[in-house]
Amino acid sequence: MITLGIETSCDETAVAILDGTKVLADVVASSAETHAEYGGVVPEIASRQHLETILPCLRRALKSTALDLSKIDLIAVTQGPGLMGSLLVGVAAAQALGAALNKPVIPVDHVMAHAYSCQLARRRPAFPFMALVVSGGHTLLIYWKSLGEAKIIGRTHDDAAGEAFDKVAKMLDLGYPGGPVIDRLSRSADPSAYNFPRPLIRDKNYHFSFSGLKTAVLYKLRDIKSQRPVKDKDKADIAASFQEAACDVLVHKSLEACVEYKVPALFVAGGVSANTRLKKLLTAEAAKRGLKLEIVFPTARLAADNAVMIAALGAAEYNGHKRKRTSASARQDLEPYSDFFIQKKELFV
Ligand code: KG4
Ligand code: ZN
Repeated sequence: MITLGIETSCDETAVAILDGTKVLADVVASSAETHAEYGGVVPEIASRQHLETILPCLRRALKSTALDLSKIDLIAVTQGPGLMGSLLVGVAAAQALGAALNKPVIPVDHVMAHAYSCQLARRRPAFPFMALVVSGGHTLLIYWKSLGEAKIIGRTHDDAAGEAFDKVAKMLDLGYPGGPVIDRLSRSADPSAYNFPRPLIRDKNYHFSFSGLKTAVLYKLRDIKSQRPVKDKDKADIAASFQEAACDVLVHKSLEACVEYKVPALFVAGGVSANTRLKKLLTAEAAKRGLKLEIVFPTARLAADNAVMIAALGAAEYNGHKRKRTSASARQDLEPYSDFFIQKKELFV
């Protein structure tokens, strides 16, 4: 089955073509550079960029496979969550293609697709597995029991982990996106220089909160500034101490969840999965706790927003549960998977 995937939830316009699970085309056009000068994604710019790039991306994907549109069996598109103006461009394109080609269009949850993307990794974890999705927009723990059964067991109450990295980097004048800079600076800094809070770490649930940690960094920075100029070493030590606190919470909650749900594998998805300290701490802490846990990280290509994961999950859901067609639209705050989900799956008209 040939699946066309379309992803436009944020600042990446992505189109992919899969034959089964084999990736035939994987095209990503990012407007990240344009947003960098504003210190974050500007929704209006992102949606305009999607409008300009969606058709060229589709043409490039088709050209690289030498397929024409008539060979597409299924269209999978990101329904949400994401920026409304951005989502609408992808959904409109998918619906138009579906209507013109008389092919089914399946809406896909972007966050679940990140979590599912491990099924495309070379070391593919078997079900059941736990997925930690950590990006600039999301921080969730998802227990994936079987192909058709997934459950969100924890999420952030406020900022996403990546968002906290970005905001702390902004306070320290380190540029955007902040995660990679903080990661790099921290390697030669002292992570115990400042004892920042580990929010909710002692709570017996899998929820997260990063806004208090971010505020603690802001207050510490104000303290220093009120006494003397902030030196590069202060910045690096603050960055490293913040990163240590954020990673401690992510690691502790993820490992506790793996133990409670008795899963043999943990998949870490989303942009923050690239964090070197997070990788190191997870592996070290799992070993320290004597856990037999396979910890899987995506390639950089799969960790970033892409349409391959959308096509893969769309195809899996379509094959698992062919449902009657009903109408649906883009949903900024999509929440359809708050419980075991595929039973609820419906197709766009
Ligand atoms: O998944 P992603 O590419 O985009 C979405 O948010 O959907 O994630 C981007 C986020 C940004 O907040 C960025 O600062 C963070 O991932 N990030 C990192 C690292 N690389 C990217 N955070 C910590 N350490 C990194 N090495
Ligand atoms: Zn994403």
